Amino acid sequence: MTHTLGHAPVDRTSRIRSIWRAAWDQGEVDALDNLLSPTYVRRRGPAGTAQDRDQLKDSIRAVREAFPDLHTDIEDVVEDGDRLAIRWRSTGRHTGTFLGVPPTGRPVEVSGATFARFDGAAVAEEWVTFDSRQLLEALGIITTAQRAAVDPDLVRGVHRKFITGVTVVTTDDDGSPRGLAVNAFSSISLDPPMVLVCVQRTSSTHPALHRASHLGISILAADQLDVAKTFASKADDKFAHLAWTPGAYGSPLIDGSCAQLEVEIGERLEAGSHTVFTGRVVSARHDDLAPLVYSGGGFFDISRTAPLPW
Ligand SMILES: Cc1cc2nc3c(=O)[nH]c(=O)nc-3n(C[C@H](O)[C@H](O)[C@H](O)COP(=O)(O)O)c2cc1C
Repeated sequence: MTHTLGHAPVDRTSRIRSIWRAAWDQGEVDALDNLLSPTYVRRRGPAGTAQDRDQLKDSIRAVREAFPDLHTDIEDVVEDGDRLAIRWRSTGRHTGTFLGVPPTGRPVEVSGATFARFDGAAVAEEWVTFDSRQLLEALGIITTAQRAAVDPDLVRGVHRKFITGVTVVTTDDDGSPRGLAVNAFSSISLDPPMVLVCVQRTSSTHPALHRASHLGISILAADQLDVAKTFASKADDKFAHLAWTPGAYGSPLIDGSCAQLEVEIGERLEAGSHTVFTGRVVSARHDDLAPLVYSGGGFFDISRTAPLPW
């Protein structure tokens, strides 16, 4: 299809091909002024991630500094009225710092699609989509490839050597207390005070935790084995025969536990079969009670173990 720019008929596809080559492959980013309107907007990823023409030029410069031999093939172009869809594939060798990753010398290939909306002869808006995992994996930032599996029984045996306490992780689900037993609890940092818990996505408590702003963590005391069993079960109302108190931020906290935290949930990281909830500690207290200990699949009273000289 041809369009008129000034008086000359101009083919949109061939203009895109030549201006992309100038900008992306040769670094002549100002060539984009002949293609993109002054009010051009480039959208990528989640809503809100938008670039104007100058920001696009800056990011092309940054990509070319990291991948000086960058080359883009336009593999397919489909035109429909004032819309144009482009399927592209870029390759380049990583010889400069990119996304904070020092040069790896690795060849990188990324493919994606760009949807452009023309306003007359100029592109007013573009939506860009590409598989960023391809890029992150090539740079060694993430791994998606399956590795040779380690025997799960072996891994389980290793975990059984690691001694933990037992916590009950809770949340207020629109007025109903919800919770489960969790030993995958860890401090992340003291300043700022941050912790994490890992919760399996099949847990019936998981959806409530996912939509919550806060969660409670009660570290069970040595005499709360029955509480641990209740919260490790799938019982309908685990709080029915239990004394508990809402914390300052509304999270249910188990009475008689030896320590309690409330956490403002920060990130929800999907990892394997679990979600890792990280967050900032917003309230904390502890009592002079011995904690319940979980080791090798059994429960122990730490006050009956002998301290070692150290
Ligand atoms: C000592 C102990 C530690 C546990 N730790 C975790 C854990 O860290 N994360 C988890 O998702 N489940 C853990 N569980 C299992 C859950 O408590 C159990 O699956 C529970 O039935 C989930 O309840 P729900 O589905 O009602 O949420 C643990 C169980 C026990 C006995």
